[in-house]
Amino acid sequence: MTKYSDIKDSLKDHQSNWCVTGVAGFIGSNILQTLLSLNQKVVGLDNFSTGYQKNLDEVQNNVSPQQWQNFTFINGDIRNFQECKQAVDGADYVLHQAALGSVPRSLNDPITTNEVNIAGHLNMLTAARDAKIKGFVYAASSSTYGDHPDLPKVEDVIGNPLSPYAVTKYVNELYASVFASAYGFKATGLRYFNVFGQRQDPQGAYAAVIPLWTAALIAGETLFINGDGETSRDFCFVDNAVQANILAALAEGDSQSQVYNVACNARTSLNQLKDLIYHQLKSLDDKTPELKVEYRDFRAGDVRHSQADISKATELLGYQPSHQIAAGLAQAMPWYLASLK
Ligand SMILES: NC(=O)c1ccc[n+]([C@@H]2O[C@H](COP(=O)([O-])OP(=O)(O)OC[C@H]3O[C@@H](n4cnc5c(N)ncnc54)[C@H](O)[C@@H]3O)[C@@H](O)[C@H]2O)c1
Repeated sequence: MTKYSDIKDSLKDHQSNWCVTGVAGFIGSNILQTLLSLNQKVVGLDNFSTGYQKNLDEVQNNVSPQQWQNFTFINGDIRNFQECKQAVDGADYVLHQAALGSVPRSLNDPITTNEVNIAGHLNMLTAARDAKIKGFVYAASSSTYGDHPDLPKVEDVIGNPLSPYAVTKYVNELYASVFASAYGFKATGLRYFNVFGQRQDPQGAYAAVIPLWTAALIAGETLFINGDGETSRDFCFVDNAVQANILAALAEGDSQSQVYNVACNARTSLNQLKDLIYHQLKSLDDKTPELKVEYRDFRAGDVRHSQADISKATELLGYQPSHQIAAGLAQAMPWYLASLK
């Protein structure tokens, strides 16, 4: 199995064409930065519904002017089939990240989540199949495990979905599987588990826990913990997700048209998480205000514990997480301090 570092070295010497949807978002912009820094050509599609121009500007600042020249942006919507066709035209690989994330958003507005996450995914699959793309990777989700209690989560043992969002991500997998059996088109799903890192949005009602708490801590506000704080997650630093995307895109044969867990096979409770974030911030800025915590009700649609068995991705893709949670937080916190203070 070729190592990720060797794959990155070989990409540098061989330029391919990539399409990244959701490119102005958190994970998409991190993928973009890695691909451009490896001298790849990228077409990105985004409608800025939850992504930002400032994420693209930051990538531009982090790569060379020549590398930035290799990026073409399409301001478009995955619900528009023509725009999907335009985005995949000439691509070797597609990394489809665009979707409406967040369990609570999907509970508040299941119709829009369904339209974007299911119809948009079907458009992308169809456009990529027609364009004879070599490698298609899409963002699946650990929410597909639903109410199944087993830990760690193994790819072929899932429960009932607990939210409209989880339904959409499961349907993504079903469509990918049908595209393999009906058309011979191979699409690889990555079940991300709570990805975090630089450029994850701390604003708005649907912010994820790490950026939400980081922003609150920096501002000296109270952290709200849903439930008793013993809810746990397998927090996955964004570089690990980027690695999985590149490995999955380049995978061949039976390693394609599979779904893979992407995380660390570790579990951190919310009570532990708040301390980790606080101590990281305090070590970077000793003026960080004291930690204030308030516990409130459990949140609807949330699963109690989550932890990924990553042996399938390790064996078939060569995936090796480069960052455990503490190392990931150490990378992300300076970014939050610089962008929020
Ligand atoms: N962050 C996580 O922990 C996590 C966990 C599991 C799965 N995922 C999945 O990973 C993907 C990326 O998530 P993220 O955390 O980067 O979220 P994000 O909201 O930062 O990024 C999503 C991007 O998709 C774009 N987008 C949304 N609807 C679109 C549409 N109709 N047309 C074009 N672009 C559209 C948004 O503007 C945004 O830039 C999503 O598919 C999400 O469901 C994320």
